[in-house]
Amino acid sequence: MNVHTGALAEAHLPDEQTIAFAREATRDLAQHPKRMSPKYFYDAAGSELFEAITRLPEYYPTRTELSILTEYGSEIAAIIPRHAALVEFGAGATTKVRLLLRRCDFSAYVPVDISTDFLNMQAEGLRKDFPALAVHPVGADFTAPFALPAAVSNMPKVGFFPGSTIGNFDPLEARTLLLSAREILGKDAQMIIGVDLEKDERVLYDAYNDSAGITARFNLNVLVRMNRELGSNFDLSAFSHRAIYNREQHRIEMHLISKKRQTVRMLGTSFSFRPGESIHTENSYKYSLERFSALARGAGWGVKKSWTDQAKMFSVHALQALD
Ligand code: AVJ
Repeated sequence: MNVHTGALAEAHLPDEQTIAFAREATRDLAQHPKRMSPKYFYDAAGSELFEAITRLPEYYPTRTELSILTEYGSEIAAIIPRHAALVEFGAGATTKVRLLLRRCDFSAYVPVDISTDFLNMQAEGLRKDFPALAVHPVGADFTAPFALPAAVSNMPKVGFFPGSTIGNFDPLEARTLLLSAREILGKDAQMIIGVDLEKDERVLYDAYNDSAGITARFNLNVLVRMNRELGSNFDLSAFSHRAIYNREQHRIEMHLISKKRQTVRMLGTSFSFRPGESIHTENSYKYSLERFSALARGAGWGVKKSWTDQAKMFSVHALQALD
């Protein structure tokens, strides 16, 4: 449901997710520097733009991770328990999970995502293609604690966190997230996680500054979404996409840069921008194998096995919950 301030007065009640979006957006745009959470990129249009990004020649992560999952699928299958429940943290396209489901003998699949429409659509497709698999979608923000469906309580648990989504969180948040995943999945759990690796800066830069401008549209889409759902009046032509590699912090940063002095109104509040002022919209942390293993260990997970592609562009890890 979309909120327009005018419509609100006509008892057009916003849903819970829109209220959370409104609360976060008004808080984060009042910060110095201004920021937005990257989780708001993924409305229907944003999810499609992201799918387009994964097909760009410059954007290596998705195809590299897929090649690792394909090449080492049988090694992954050999490590994880049979008849387990596979719990995916954030559920986008089902391409990656299908690879695991085909190779491994899972009894249940629990995709967890805030976007319930998309979630239910994907679940339908999987039920059709894997009739023996119990699919239990959970509509939740996986950055906060959530309960697993009772139907999987007696099954061994395997977490799945592909795509280097972990890279969107700063090291402290990433630790909290891995700790919480360990709580949710329980004792003896395992986790398959995809992590992007540090590499030549030019390659990183190009992956977030594609020549077709799709990443720029993806970044700007968060303004389109605020205009539609929160009734703001962002002028899209007055902001530009910027992505840079921050070497000290090992991360790509995405920003939306105001091209001029301007004021934007949203939900009864004015937000002014100086020329060149940024809204920091995303971090995408890059790890070395050592730094990732240290992060996992600090959150109660041991690295059982790691796989990379030949060029060491991307990594997939099998984690084991430590006692
Ligand atoms: C989905 C968070 C892994 O950081 O590479 C792609 C998102 N942002 N291009 C990433 C993204 C710009 C992506 N993750």
